[in-house]
Amino acid sequence: MRKALTLLIALGSVFAVVLAGCKSGDEVGPGFNDDKVFLGLFVSTSGDIASFGTDTKNGVELAVEEINASGGINGKKIELRVEDTASDPQQGGNAATKLATGDSVFVALGAVASGISLNAAPIFQEKGIPMISPSSTNPTVTQQGDKIFRICYLDDFQGGACAVFAHKDLKAKKAAILSNQDDAYSTGLAKFFKAKFTKLGGEIVAEESFKKGNSDFNTQISNIKGKGADIIFVPAYYNDVALIAKQFRAQDVKTPLLGGDGWESASLTKNAEGALEGCYFGNHYSQEDKSDTVQKFVAAYKKKYGETPSSLAALGYDVVYVTKAAIEKAGAFDRAKVLDALRGLTDFQGVTGKFSIDGDRNARKSISMLKIQGDRFLPVRQIAPEEVE
Ligand code: PHE
Repeated sequence: MRKALTLLIALGSVFAVVLAGCKSGDEVGPGFNDDKVFLGLFVSTSGDIASFGTDTKNGVELAVEEINASGGINGKKIELRVEDTASDPQQGGNAATKLATGDSVFVALGAVASGISLNAAPIFQEKGIPMISPSSTNPTVTQQGDKIFRICYLDDFQGGACAVFAHKDLKAKKAAILSNQDDAYSTGLAKFFKAKFTKLGGEIVAEESFKKGNSDFNTQISNIKGKGADIIFVPAYYNDVALIAKQFRAQDVKTPLLGGDGWESASLTKNAEGALEGCYFGNHYSQEDKSDTVQKFVAAYKKKYGETPSSLAALGYDVVYVTKAAIEKAGAFDRAKVLDALRGLTDFQGVTGKFSIDGDRNARKSISMLKIQGDRFLPVRQIAPEEVE
């Protein structure tokens, strides 16, 4: 009797699965099933730039938790599939291959570092999986294909804005540049800064570069020292920046340093041990923004993680809500329709501002220039795209 009952139950569940598979509509398909949609997340939670991935993942998970608590996306709960890109472009490619294999994610979110996104993008493009980077700013990232999007500003704008800030706000006439020659983000920003700064009438008095993995910058610093720079532009990631700053001060160069979003990490000022006091960098949002959207997010994030969200966390949070908005606008779990919806997404109100996605799959947004004071990043002013173009 017992055996017969078990058999009946087993048969019944096979029947149910077959039925579900035959249903019309979008209950089951690539990257989703009848009650879940799978989103991939590929970021670096280990290695040199681990705080980029950790903060992003925290922001993403907060958004997923909120969305699932209020019923999910069109009735499906989000399940995240996370891959660590280990601060390495090669590992980024491997992570993308894992997520893209077997159509296991509906949309892929990532990466943070442009060099990693550049390796991952062709893999998702080829599989037809929409990829949305929360924070890769190098212009070439979204040029990898028509399925590759981003929700942040681009480095031609960011580099230009840093030049405007140096020239107009800091009254700098002469600038030096120190960049990482092995990193697309760094070389791109250096190029865009130089173009705008010289266009504004400024002069680049020294251009130095270092190799990935370098930890001794003394030769480059000696070459910059004594050239009379009013500002030193260092478009690099936070670990390198902290070392660079300390070595500049050790050589008695007191000139302020200026950088882009890659500086942002809670460990920046800790590792720099005071060497970055009074320096500046550009970023994607300001936690001090008094708007309801920002303050609600900051409060929820603080409650969950016990710390103030970085702009990486804010962009991670926004990218999940952008995905939700696009699926809802598409009205179906159909990638072609979601791609269309993403392309035409207008006036999305995020924590990182109100923005639209343009025909080149990019967002146009303002930059917040911040000043380092102790462990704090104080907002100096926002620069809008019109001011740089
Ligand atoms: N914009 C950086 C890149 O493209 C990544 C980054 C974004 C770093 C936001 C910090 C904050 O490589």
